[in-house]
Amino acid sequence: MIENPKCVIDARNIVKIYQNGCEELKVLDDISLQVLKNDFSVILGPSGSGKSTLMNILGCLDLPTSGQYFLDNTDILNAKENQLAAIRNQKIGFVFQKFNLMPRLTALQNVMLPLLYRGVNEEEAIEKAKEKLDLLGLADRLSHRPPELSGGQQQRVAIARAIVGNPHLLLADEPTGNLDSKSSAGAMEIFKELNCQGNTIVIITHDVEVAEQVEKMFYIRDGKIYDKD
Ligand SMILES: Nc1ncnc2c1ncn2[C@@H]1O[C@H](COP(=O)(O)OP(=O)(O)OP(=O)(O)O)[C@@H](O)[C@H]1O
Ligand SMILES: [Mg+2]
Repeated sequence: MIENPKCVIDARNIVKIYQNGCEELKVLDDISLQVLKNDFSVILGPSGSGKSTLMNILGCLDLPTSGQYFLDNTDILNAKENQLAAIRNQKIGFVFQKFNLMPRLTALQNVMLPLLYRGVNEEEAIEKAKEKLDLLGLADRLSHRPPELSGGQQQRVAIARAIVGNPHLLLADEPTGNLDSKSSAGAMEIFKELNCQGNTIVIITHDVEVAEQVEKMFYIRDGKIYDKD
């Protein structure tokens, strides 16, 4: 396959097998997918189809059992851990299905964290984190800790944290799963705006209504992927 300089995600023949005792569970079965710069894609599939497993691999948080994965033409399976850590921090914004917020930190501190890891000074990190929390309607919840927030509010903090660093690639796993319809529409508008600014977006969802709002849709079922274009 020829390298495409516009290709952000180039996953080839990805297989993921989990070992449960002596039983093998093939969760991703020969998945190939390409996402180009400035694409807005959705991966749609039912519960248990392998969506989060795939997101962890695309986000360089987990490795496949076999296959190849190039992110911005970097060979991820042959990259060193410090290289992967830098890619995760500098290029990717994550919205995790289970939020993965730090329970002892406030909403503001959670959103500042990716900036501080990047070496941004505290004053600037506070300003940017406040701006994103405000955008997500949480200006009056800055000093609340995740256990003091509702599920939907925690999800909005997770979205603010994912976008605060203006990530080249946003990977969002069920980002509207805990939101009411108004907040869900608001979050989709924020993602669309980011996309208009040139960022590449991949949303993972089982919600057909969310999927219908974007142009490029992949469908995942039983660990196999189908292009719906
Ligand atoms: N660490 C693990 N060890 C063993 N099996 C796992 C592991 N993680 C996930 N699985 C299994 O892999 C399958 C796919 O899980 P995954 O979380 O990727 O699904 P999903 O599409 O994200 O589902 P949902 O929509 O419910 O979030 C499931 O059957 C799950 O039980
Ligand atoms: Mg999932």
